[in-house]
Amino acid sequence: MTALTLSTAAASGLRADAIVVGVAKGAKGPVIASGAEAVDQAYDGRLAGVLETLGASGAEGEVTKLPAPAGFKSPVVVAVGLGTEPEKDAAYTGETLRRAAGAAARALAGSQKAAFALPLADAADAGAVAEGALLGAYSFDAYKENGGSGGDAKGAKGAKNGKGPLAEVALLGGKPRDKAYKAAVDRAVAVSEELNRARDLINTPPNDLNPESFAAVAQAAAKEHGIKVTVLDEKALAKGGYGGILGVGAGSAATPRLVQLSYTSSKAKKHLAFVGKGITYDSGGISLKPAGHNETMKCDMSGAAAVFAAVVAAARLGLEVNVTGYLALAENMPSGSATRPGDVLRMYSGKTVEVLNTDAEGRLVLADALWKASESKPDAIVDVATLTGAMMLALGNRTFGIMANDDAFRTAIHEAAEEVGEDAWPMPLPDHLRKGMDSPTADIANMGERYGGGLVAGLFLREFVGEGITWAHLDIAGPAFNESAPFGYTPKGGTGSAVRTLVRLAELTASGDLG
Ligand code: BES
Ligand code: MN
Ligand code: ZN
Repeated sequence: MTALTLSTAAASGLRADAIVVGVAKGAKGPVIASGAEAVDQAYDGRLAGVLETLGASGAEGEVTKLPAPAGFKSPVVVAVGLGTEPEKDAAYTGETLRRAAGAAARALAGSQKAAFALPLADAADAGAVAEGALLGAYSFDAYKENGGSGGDAKGAKGAKNGKGPLAEVALLGGKPRDKAYKAAVDRAVAVSEELNRARDLINTPPNDLNPESFAAVAQAAAKEHGIKVTVLDEKALAKGGYGGILGVGAGSAATPRLVQLSYTSSKAKKHLAFVGKGITYDSGGISLKPAGHNETMKCDMSGAAAVFAAVVAAARLGLEVNVTGYLALAENMPSGSATRPGDVLRMYSGKTVEVLNTDAEGRLVLADALWKASESKPDAIVDVATLTGAMMLALGNRTFGIMANDDAFRTAIHEAAEEVGEDAWPMPLPDHLRKGMDSPTADIANMGERYGGGLVAGLFLREFVGEGITWAHLDIAGPAFNESAPFGYTPKGGTGSAVRTLVRLAELTASGDLG
């Protein structure tokens, strides 16, 4: 894990592998951002000109490396693009800083230490740079030959695989003795570390992460952070009548689990429940997915990973709100014991579901967990799930959809997502789509009309939320897993989508600024 400190050192005297500075796109070519004045002076004020000669424009995500000026203890300067320069007297947005810090940290993979001299207008900016650097430094090397060791370029076999993340980040230009700066950076460290742990879980291959081992990871973390944890195994699930979770897990040799994580604060006035879809592998079951659609399906537990990370982060931050996380864990496999299309499941709520397509499994495990969460009468429930390909068709790869049974709550979640730099968009739950799920045999079918499939799934879930409880559903199928090139602070593979939005919701609930 990358270490991070707020430093008062001058850029010239700091012994590191690189100094990171910001460069923006000005009206007449690249301009050096504040925070890098001393570095620019050491180049006799010619840094912008040199960067322009090297082909840099200051565009977002652009990274240019050049030798440090004479007299510097660090050998390299890394100039990272910030995009268009803000208007006079306006500051860079937190998200711009987060992305730039992320791109720079990623470009420094394999290095020991880097100093970040990016423009910091206030404590929140320091938090954004810290978060961007820690998230951008992430790499998943556990399965590479010299996995995770980092930095040893000299002799290690396979050193070009798994360089390991940038080991240490020093933030320059912050105020280490200022409480607000310290708090912002501490928050960034807690959230980023837990988010990166969620990414590790998502990236772990499904032969090593199944419901049982995921539950064990949750149990260990809960113990470490004083979170109460309950794990229902397949026997307890059968006794409790969790037909949805059991039905989805029935085809797998790895048995399902329902994990409940309860973080409580003595000062809490509100109670939030987070529910995560945790399909550790989604083969589609008997409605088997064809090749081309199953290669990344280890990511189908991203919702549960996000919920897990958010509860642990809430505990680490000591938020004054009670947060309960429910991880609905199962592996969806075809076998002689698998649920068949045509089977009817009796759910934990008592409703019956005709399973028409075993690949629509997420809503089945979530239904049981939502009903379970409803029993404790929380002030609100938010579920997070890689639920539908339809949501990806609608919103693309970087935006999650928000559905809710309460317009104000949906708007509040959208605003919280925007605040932390997550792309999200409100989606409707049109009542007329409900009749497509009518079943001649059971109370409801697990599939309806093809068009609007993401909304149909949302309508299904709504039926398993307790009467009068505020609820929202985040369909993160698009942004949960990045199959393209890394960008900003987002790596290839598991992204940790929704973690920061959930943490922000918990903070806003704690401070009484949400409902
Ligand atoms: N896990 C998938 C959704 C998914 C697809 C997530 C691609 C991430 C990337 C989900 O379980 C699924 O298979 N949904 C079906 C539902 C359909 C059968 C009603 C879908 O979207 O096709
Ligand atoms: Mn599926
Ligand atoms: Zn799935």
